[in-house]
Amino acid sequence: MATFESYLDDNKTRFEQDLCDWLKIASISTDSAYKEQVLQAAQWLHRRIDALGFHTELIETCGHPIVYGESPAIANAPTVLVYGHYDVQPPDPLDEWETPPFEPNIRGGNLYARGATDDKGQMITHLFSVEAWKKTMGDLPVQIKFLIEGEEECGSGGLYEFLAGKYDQDQPVTEKLAADIAVISDCSQYGPGQPAITYGLRGICYFELLLNGPSQDLHSGAFGGSVANPANALSKMMTALIDEQGRIQIPGFYDDVIPLTELERKQFADLNFDNDAYMKQLDVDDLSGEAGYSTLERRWARPTFDINGMWSGYQGEGAKTILPAHAGAKFSFRLVPNQDVEKITESLRTMLLQICPAGIQMELVEHHGAPGFVLPLENPYMQAASDAIEHGFGTKPVLIRSGGSIPVVNSFSSQLKIDTLLLGWGQDDDNLHSPNEKFSLADFHKGIRSSAYLWQEIAKIPT
Ligand code: BES
Ligand code: MN
Ligand code: MN
Repeated sequence: MATFESYLDDNKTRFEQDLCDWLKIASISTDSAYKEQVLQAAQWLHRRIDALGFHTELIETCGHPIVYGESPAIANAPTVLVYGHYDVQPPDPLDEWETPPFEPNIRGGNLYARGATDDKGQMITHLFSVEAWKKTMGDLPVQIKFLIEGEEECGSGGLYEFLAGKYDQDQPVTEKLAADIAVISDCSQYGPGQPAITYGLRGICYFELLLNGPSQDLHSGAFGGSVANPANALSKMMTALIDEQGRIQIPGFYDDVIPLTELERKQFADLNFDNDAYMKQLDVDDLSGEAGYSTLERRWARPTFDINGMWSGYQGEGAKTILPAHAGAKFSFRLVPNQDVEKITESLRTMLLQICPAGIQMELVEHHGAPGFVLPLENPYMQAASDAIEHGFGTKPVLIRSGGSIPVVNSFSSQLKIDTLLLGWGQDDDNLHSPNEKFSLADFHKGIRSSAYLWQEIAKIPT
């Protein structure tokens, strides 16, 4: 009988083709015009998990469906909850793509398509590793539960309702999802040739601020200087949120931040991050951020403030002398573990109301929020993951944190009491959420291999 290793070698091309089929479906969750494609992507995955002999469900939610599948329980072996998402970000700006986002294209050893790395390409490695086990060994050494949502990129509304028990049928959700450990592949390695285990993520809270002045745009000569200008007010209010040192000015913002330990600072420093290469990669001539912290500390373990979009006034060709009636901005804070989304939201609202100039009406809209996450380093499954990755990639993984957010990991730990292994197969320059998103095919296959070894390593841990 073939080993799963030889099965993985023999099926490389087919795995790539299957992934390409899935990537052709434009499952853009945030845009309702793509509802049908989002459903198709869910159905595609549902069929594939079904073909593994899993018990499967396509769970309808208030938003896009959840794809669920579970293999039979294995006596005395752990259960692994594999989470991922089949939805993708909108592909715009379209004219910056070298090949169309939903026509997967392989060049230079990379697969280019929206969703290649975030998250279809990474998620599906776990499906192929299960297939290899089933086809060569007959059975899996652990029980696997797939929980794959279609709304990660737009706030996970349906998933939260599911986790709250809203769609429970014959079994409470906490029982259905009961597992010893969760596994998510939806982040990055430390760099090319250097795999990693991510033990921390930042949280996020996202807002929209709308400012309204006069009921319509005014002549800036005839009226300017006598009424508040919403665009001026917006710049002033945004500027007030952060100082020259990169310190956020919302009262109490840092109160719950746990300072980095000397050990962690040393571990980060030992990774010898190359600032020059980073500047080259991003095409900038200098770096900037909170004073007193290194680039990795700023990216992985310190909170930040970023304006994500801003609009007001005249944007057309030439000059137009108006005082705009409205201004708006979308902005967000990345949070670190122990910071509280609600507390920060309230303090932000109070501060903005205080500094909003007279003559301007403000409206603050809250979008999604999620706290940060750290996995206790003594977690027993960490070693299993490290061994599996070393086997799959040929290199021992380093421990890193990441600046991105995967909101559901907090619900796994607080509600389901399950810790999460974040095993990213991507690279920092994979252009996720950007034009020309890609995934290295070598990393894809090493990811499948590591996943196959992971089931074996996890099976060794007594429950
Ligand atoms: N896969 C990313 C999160 C990520 C990116 C983790 C890079 C680590 C490194 C995920 O799909 C994502 O984009 N998350 C959003 C969360 C938000 C929509 C609540 C994010 O981080 O902006
Ligand atoms: Mn993702
Ligand atoms: Mn994403």
